Amino acid sequence: MQKQTDRTEGDVNASPLRDHWLDECVSPEARALLDEDSRYFLHQSLSTPCLNALESCGGSLIRDVDGREYLDFHGNSVHQVGYGNPRVIEALKRQLETLPFCPRRYTNETAVTLARRLAQLAPGNLNKVLLAPAGALAVSMALKLARVATGRFKTVSFWGAFHGATLDTISVGGEAMFRSGIGPLLPGAIHVPPPEDCRGDESALSNVDQIECVMEHEGDIAAVVAEPIRCTDVTRPGGAYWRRVRELCDRHGALLIFDEVPTCLGRTGRMFACEHYGVVPDILCMGKGLGGGVMPMAAVIARGDLDAAQAYSLGHFTHEKSPMGCAAALATLDCIEEDGLVDRSRDLGAKLLDKLQALRNRHRCIREVRGIGLLAGVELGEDPATGRAAGDIAEQTLYACLRRGLSFKVSGGKTLTLAPPLTITDEELDRAVAIVDASLAEVLAQ
Ligand SMILES: Cc1ncc(COP(=O)(O)O)c(C=O)c1O
Repeated sequence: MQKQTDRTEGDVNASPLRDHWLDECVSPEARALLDEDSRYFLHQSLSTPCLNALESCGGSLIRDVDGREYLDFHGNSVHQVGYGNPRVIEALKRQLETLPFCPRRYTNETAVTLARRLAQLAPGNLNKVLLAPAGALAVSMALKLARVATGRFKTVSFWGAFHGATLDTISVGGEAMFRSGIGPLLPGAIHVPPPEDCRGDESALSNVDQIECVMEHEGDIAAVVAEPIRCTDVTRPGGAYWRRVRELCDRHGALLIFDEVPTCLGRTGRMFACEHYGVVPDILCMGKGLGGGVMPMAAVIARGDLDAAQAYSLGHFTHEKSPMGCAAALATLDCIEEDGLVDRSRDLGAKLLDKLQALRNRHRCIREVRGIGLLAGVELGEDPATGRAAGDIAEQTLYACLRRGLSFKVSGGKTLTLAPPLTITDEELDRAVAIVDASLAEVLAQ
């Protein structure tokens, strides 16, 4: 059983409610598959035991092996263009027939086209690219580049942050569940309290003094590593906060690394989350949806003048310039641009936020609703009537929603994080909100 303090990144996997869900809603055939999964895969937190087994996915839906469909408001943040997007699949088929793999000593047109496109798309002077097969590896390359470029090794990042599950990324990450008990982490990874949500006050500067204090006292920070908008619990500091961090980095010779692995590509109603603030980092990490919900694909885009690591291997991944990953990424960018998905995310996101705010009047346990683009967080508090803990209500609500056909993630033990595909229809969005509404009503009536 996970401790309450460990409930940071995702749902509770080993719990009586999970057992109940499996007993009640998962067929013996599906259970057999889950048992085989448990038998042959190494067990790890947040993945074992699995929730269910899937058979197919398409558009906004995932389908389990028992034929039940769920609107997927989780999707591990890979499904900006929806599952099985026909243009992504077509591009992959074409690439599969010509150049399915590119040994690292060679380049290929698909990869060069993607790098050019990302350089043109990225804000400010970000125009040099490296590709990788995972978001954690993009962050890892950014950390190495910051060391080489500054000649320093220390970083400032936030308690509670998640930047991937590799040893270097859990070092800059701040989640106890990933960091504790695993032995020595990277030296010089300094943590400060995260900024609070600005609650509409763009001038809010919560906790920024702590960064200034560390920078002044240490004097040799290589980089500040941060998510400009925290994806898991949907926390958004104000513009003034990031402008001040930018200014501190410039003053102290540190680089600003923005981890936009889950939030780039329109999720927040802008192509890149940092565009909300007018703050350009020195290195931007992207991933997740870049692979079109099919391929593992990530990238760093750095300031052109940081291209000074010729003598080092920053990535050197076997699947570095993956033609398949790049074909998926190019098709994804086409879909986002041609279908106006960034604007759609902004407009539908505003509608989603309104509808979720309206639920606050109906359910006394909703403490706060936060959202930007098609990324929303419904933070629950203790039920004032019964004293029931937020974590229990959140977990029960998750299973009640699953029973009604909606999948999402619970972050920090008490925030329902809702991140649908940007291609979601108005009807699907309405249906999802109605499911949350009915599920909260059911859970609170118990
Ligand atoms: C903010 C952030 N950074 C990095 C990562 C790591 O990405 P990946 O799982 O592709 O390694 C994640 C994954 O959830 C993330 O949310």
